[in-house]
Amino acid sequence: MQNYPLTSKVRDDFPILKRKIHGHSLVYLDNASTTQKPNCVIDALVNFYENHNSNVSRSVYTLAEEATEIYEKGRESIANFVGAEESGNIIFTRGTTESINLVASAWAQPNLKNGDRILVTEMEHHSNLVPWQLATKASGAELVYWPITPESGSSGGGRLDLQMLDELLTDSVKRQRSIRLLAVTAVSNVLGTVNPIAKIVEMAHDRGVPVLVDAAQAAARMPIDVSGWDCDFLAFSGHKVYGPTGIGVLYAKKERLEEMLPYQGGGGMIRQVGRQTSTWAEAPQKFEAGTPPVAEVSGLAAAVEYIRNFAMAEIQQHEVELTTHALKRISEFKDLELYGPPETIDRSGVVSFNLLNVHPHDVAQVLDESGIAVRAGHHCTQVLHEKLGIAASVRMSFGIYNEVSEMDRLFSALDQCRMYFV
Ligand SMILES: Cc1ncc(COP(=O)(O)O)c(C=O)c1O
Repeated sequence: MQNYPLTSKVRDDFPILKRKIHGHSLVYLDNASTTQKPNCVIDALVNFYENHNSNVSRSVYTLAEEATEIYEKGRESIANFVGAEESGNIIFTRGTTESINLVASAWAQPNLKNGDRILVTEMEHHSNLVPWQLATKASGAELVYWPITPESGSSGGGRLDLQMLDELLTDSVKRQRSIRLLAVTAVSNVLGTVNPIAKIVEMAHDRGVPVLVDAAQAAARMPIDVSGWDCDFLAFSGHKVYGPTGIGVLYAKKERLEEMLPYQGGGGMIRQVGRQTSTWAEAPQKFEAGTPPVAEVSGLAAAVEYIRNFAMAEIQQHEVELTTHALKRISEFKDLELYGPPETIDRSGVVSFNLLNVHPHDVAQVLDESGIAVRAGHHCTQVLHEKLGIAASVRMSFGIYNEVSEMDRLFSALDQCRMYFV
C-alpha cells in the first residue's frame, strides 16, 4: 500500500467541495454528522449499478456471482480495517444506530433480568442510550450512568475518570447487581474527547463485564483495533468514513455471536423453514435478513481503501493541527464558550461552542450565508447537554479536506453574528 501525504490535493477528490453556497465556496465543517464522498466512492456505486447489479447468493449466474464476490470482499476489507480476526465477525447493518439496536435486541434484552445493570456514559449519543433504555425497561433492569468530569475538575472537563469506573464496577458487585454490558463511545460527538478504550475494556473485563464500543466518530479519525482493544462489540457508520449512507458495521466477537438470537426474520438468515419453526444460517448471515446493501458495501469498501491511502497518523496529525487552531481562536474571544477539553491531548476534531447570548441556530444560519456548514442543536446528546447546563450548541467538526483558512473564515463570519444579534 502506498501512503501519500495529506495535502490540499485531497480536496480535488471531493467534487462537492467545488460548490458555491450563497455565492461563497463551501466550507464544510459538519463531518461529525456525515462526511463528503470522494470520486472513488461515487464511482464504486455507479460501477456496481452499471456493471454488476444483481442480488447476492441467490443464483449461480455471472452477475449474481460477481455481486456476491463484491459483497463478501467488502466484508473482508472491513474486517481488515477494524483489525478483526476474520470477516465472519462483521455484520452489515444500516448504520451505527442499527448495529447498537441489533446488540440490544438480539443479545442484551433476552438475557437481562430484574436488577441487572447496563452501564453507559453521560457523553453517549442517543443511539447508544435509547436502545439500552428500551432493553432495560422491558426486563426491569437498570441503566446506570458513568458521569463525565466537571469543567472545573483537575483532569479537565468532559472526560471519563477511570477511578470512577472502578467505583461503579465495585458498587455493582457490592450490591449484587450484575453489570451486563458497558456501552461507551470511543470519541464524543460533542466534546471531541477521545476515551481510553483499551484501558476501559481491560477494567470492565477484569470484572467480567462485556464492552460495546460506539466507533461512529472514531472510525474516520483514529486506528480501530478490535483485537488490540479486545472489545466484545463495535459499531460504526459508512457515511461518517467517507462512504455511502445506508450502510453500517457491527463487529462482534465469535463467542458473542454465538450468544445472539436472530434480530430480524426473513430471507437469507435461515437454514430451513418449516410451517411453524425455522433454523438459522450461521453468523454473519443469521443477522442479515433480506436483500443486503450490496452497492453500499462496494462504496464502503472503496471508502476504507481510500482512507488507507493515507497513514492514520497523518490523518490524526492533520486533525491535531486544525483542532489546535480552533481551540486557540476560541480562547481569543471572551464571548465564546467551549465545551469539552480545552487542549488537544486525547481530543479529536469535534469542537462545540456557543456564542454567548446568541441562539446556536441563529449562528448556524448566519454562517450558512457565508457558505459555512456547521451543526446547531443538541447533536442527539440531550443527557450531555443537560449536564453541561445548555439546551444546544454550535459544532464544527473536521474532515481530511478541511484547512486552517476555512476556520478563519468561520471566525470572521462570527463577527456578522455579533453585528446582527449582540
Ligand atoms: C457517537 C455517535 N454514535 C452514533 C451515531 C449514530 O450514527 P448513525 O446515525 O449513522 O446511525 C452518531 C451520529 O452522529 C454518533 O456521532
